[in-house]
Amino acid sequence: MSEETKVKVRNLTKKFGDLLVLDNASFDIKKGEFVCIVGPTGCGKTTFLNLLVKLIEPTAGEILIDGEPADPKKHNLSFVFQEPSAFPWLTVEKNLRFNLEIKHYSKDEIDKRVARMAKLLGLEKVMNAYPRELSASAQQRVVIGRSFAMYPDLLLMDEPYGQMDIKMRYYLEDEVIKLWKETGATVIFITHNVEEAVYLAQRCLIMSPKPTTIKEEVNIDLPYPRNVADAQFIEYREHITEMIKWW
Ligand SMILES: Nc1ncnc2c1ncn2[C@@H]1O[C@H](COP(=O)(O)OP(=O)(O)O)[C@@H](O)[C@H]1O
Ligand SMILES: [Mg+2]
Repeated sequence: MSEETKVKVRNLTKKFGDLLVLDNASFDIKKGEFVCIVGPTGCGKTTFLNLLVKLIEPTAGEILIDGEPADPKKHNLSFVFQEPSAFPWLTVEKNLRFNLEIKHYSKDEIDKRVARMAKLLGLEKVMNAYPRELSASAQQRVVIGRSFAMYPDLLLMDEPYGQMDIKMRYYLEDEVIKLWKETGATVIFITHNVEEAVYLAQRCLIMSPKPTTIKEEVNIDLPYPRNVADAQFIEYREHITEMIKWW
């Protein structure tokens, strides 16, 4: 892994009216790193990603991607939102093709990538369906396919597997690791599921309750694929669970 910084967060503060959500948070994410951000509901995880992609503006501080303010035209980044966000007016296939067509990939390349994503995400039989005809889990898989198909440099995932049953979640956890390894992407994966964080991340950033700072970071020094029953795995899981206890 290179030591180049992909995402630099400096003194980031976000208030909504009087509500102080992010309180002077600073951290770096290295190029090619897989980082999980873990923290209690309402601490500002989604707010952080919204700031990162410039959907909202910070109250103070800054976030830089490759040393520059985020710009979707410049940075090849993909975002899987917490809420299902497949385009309702497009079929599954057209959802999968959407971002690739915007970026003007060749038809052959688009066909190839879309076929791969359909297979990987178990969407082959529903390519002509509209999102509303699918379960929440399948809709979310469409969005994941739309994101993965870009082979993004920076993949942002906001509790993406919350809607999935455990089998699908395990499968997709392995798939995001595979995509990360194949593409060398930097991945920021938000979850409140500690086991998922320890399974995926090279490093976990643990957020405190509001007003939120980074309470601790934990390097997960375990090879992939990881085994949830491994003694060291359980040690990490218990340590992080202890750290995020806000009750
Ligand atoms: N647009 C907004 N206006 C007012 N309050 C907001 C807005 N967005 C988020 N919040 C508040 O900011 C806090 C953090 O929200 P969020 O980032 O969604 O938390 P998380 O994703 O960690 O569960 C919550 O208390 C939420 O109610
Ligand atoms: Mg959230």
